[in-house]
Amino acid sequence: MARPLPVPPAPPAGDDALGEQAWIEVIQKMDEVYNDLLQYEVALEEKNAALEESHQFIESVLASISDILIVCDRDGAIIETNPALQHFTGRAAEALVGTPVFDLFADEGERVRARHLVSIHGRDGIHDCELHLRAGDGTAVPVSLNCTPRLTPAGKLMGLVLTGRPVGELRRAYQQLRQAHDDLKRTQGQLLHAEKMASLGRLVAGVAHELNNPISFVLGNVLSLKRYAARLTEYLGAIHGVEGAPLAQGSAEPAALRQRLRIDRVLEDMPALIDGLIEGAERTRDIVDALKRFSAVDKATPEPVNLTEVIQRAVHWVEKSAPPGFRVVLDLPVALPCAGSSGQLQQVAMNLVQNAVDACAGRTDARLEILGGMTAGAGGQPATIAVHFCDNGAGIAPESLPHLFEPFFTTKPVGQGTGLGLSISYGIVERHGGNLTASIPDTPDGGACFMLTLPAAGPLQRG
Ligand SMILES: Nc1ncnc2c1ncn2[C@@H]1O[C@H](COP(=O)(O)OP(=O)(O)OP(=O)(O)O)[C@@H](O)[C@H]1O
Ligand SMILES: [Mg+2]
Repeated sequence: MARPLPVPPAPPAGDDALGEQAWIEVIQKMDEVYNDLLQYEVALEEKNAALEESHQFIESVLASISDILIVCDRDGAIIETNPALQHFTGRAAEALVGTPVFDLFADEGERVRARHLVSIHGRDGIHDCELHLRAGDGTAVPVSLNCTPRLTPAGKLMGLVLTGRPVGELRRAYQQLRQAHDDLKRTQGQLLHAEKMASLGRLVAGVAHELNNPISFVLGNVLSLKRYAARLTEYLGAIHGVEGAPLAQGSAEPAALRQRLRIDRVLEDMPALIDGLIEGAERTRDIVDALKRFSAVDKATPEPVNLTEVIQRAVHWVEKSAPPGFRVVLDLPVALPCAGSSGQLQQVAMNLVQNAVDACAGRTDARLEILGGMTAGAGGQPATIAVHFCDNGAGIAPESLPHLFEPFFTTKPVGQGTGLGLSISYGIVERHGGNLTASIPDTPDGGACFMLTLPAAGPLQRG
């Protein structure tokens, strides 16, 4: 800015020195004022630039908010909106400003609800209240609304700030998520079923082998009894006649007949034959029981389970199809009481034993040790059952260890392992409140070690 030069008027004669001094002072004052003015102007320009910057900042923030934003005055007239609302309603900012905020609602019913809410809760704020707004395409869209009052420093209500998020999209996303979750659950159920069928296949192979024995001796005994029955009928018919008819003339002496038909031997043999039949029938019933327990549909409420019996049964069945050299050393207390599904826990134990059998393939000294016990829980906690399954098989490669429980992880050739056994077992044990872990034992024997822990459901058995 160019400084205007003051033109001094001609000083009165005689007062030259005094006049000049006065003029110098005036000019100095004007200089000072001018300097002040310059500084004010610079400060004003700086403030203006800062204001402009903050305005742009606020604008960009408002533009980047995906939720709709409405600022209105005390009477509900719109003062300010953000681009999200303009996009939602399909109207420009200028068309919205000055109109009543309640006009944005979908219909009269929603307007009444909104007015009612604002009049009752407006001062305290409204949180996540679902109301329908009219979108640009004319549809009523559910919006989750929040409303906060704008107050003067003295606490007087100046207006309201409304923010809202259209929930239609969110709902659709939620439904898709739910659908995906349901599909996943269904697939998991199918996998569980497939694995159960595989275990059932192993069980059935064992069962077929096991049933063969009692059934063949039941059949043998029944055939003997049939022959004995024929001899007894002949003998009794000879003595008492058939159906009340008198004895035939010339029939052999009863004593001779008794000897020929070896009636005493028959009578002596019969109890053993009948005992054999009972034993065979009982063994068959036990086998069928085991099958039923395995295939039982899981009950909603957990049943008392003796883990020792479950493991013994699993070992019994897997051993049937194991190579002859495979030895299992069981060291378990009589009772390891827990709660859950015996069928599912048997599936876990069968998987662990079967894996050990597979890992020991080709070894003549194959060995699986199953050691179990219960430890008292500290500070009123329930006791814990821990069972170790340690074999001397091929062992686990350190890089495989973190992946063992992943679905479909298998080192077995295609067609020999699904890689689901451990992952499904892990899920079952977890649902029973327990844990299943694997480790590489630090012994010269090598092999693998799995530890199964479960919360105990009964008193701690000492000794
Ligand atoms: N006792 C073990 N010793 C060495 N490796 C083991 C042992 N148990 C499991 N593994 C390893 O963990 C992998 C996964 O086991 P998992 O039981 O999940 O599946 P799988 O046995 O391969 O297949 P499936 O159980 O369906 O027959 C096995 O392929 C094997 O590499
Ligand atoms: Mg397996």
